[in-house]
Amino acid sequence: MILGIGVDMVDIERIRASVERYGESFTGKLFTDHEIAYCSGKALPAQHYAARFAAKEAFSKAIATGWAGTFQWKDVEVVNDDMGKPSFRLYGPTAEQFAARSIMLSITHTETSAAAFVIIQDELHVKD
Ligand SMILES: CC(C)(COP(=O)(O)OP(=O)(O)OC[C@H]1O[C@@H](n2cnc3c(N)ncnc32)[C@H](O)[C@@H]1OP(=O)(O)O)[C@@H](O)C(=O)NCCC(=O)NCCS
Repeated sequence: MILGIGVDMVDIERIRASVERYGESFTGKLFTDHEIAYCSGKALPAQHYAARFAAKEAFSKAIATGWAGTFQWKDVEVVNDDMGKPSFRLYGPTAEQFAARSIMLSITHTETSAAAFVIIQDELHVKD
């Protein structure tokens, strides 16, 4: 059973400007060390930062409470498997809250925009 969906689109230039202007005080507040290592290793880091920003926002929409809930930006980390497929790794209270859920993430980016789509399912139902 689908419990929630969320989508978000982010202007890459806005993120690029923030990274350039604020550097680590910006990236370190929003992104985990793993995410920073992934994005900064890419040819166009802002594309990947923007995608992860969109993914976190999409997640906040999928859980309905948005940022009014208990989780923090860095409690929702985007990781990629060996084939590049993204998923979430959760930390803190958010990890406990969603331990029994299946969360799916898809990301896309062009030169100007990044977008992410999230589906949260009842994992017990998925296993049936
Ligand atoms: C999946 C695939 C169609 C994506 O095509 P694309 O045009 O580069 O995709 P977009 O530019 O729209 O989106 C890029 C995002 O796709 C996602 N993505 C990459 N590989 C993916 C995969 N195998 N499955 C699902 N999503 C994938 C990533 O989240 C990536 O953004 P990120 O690097 O910031 O996390 C293409 O990469 C592909 O066919 N990959 C096959 C697997 C492969 O060869 N992987 C190489 C790395 S080992």
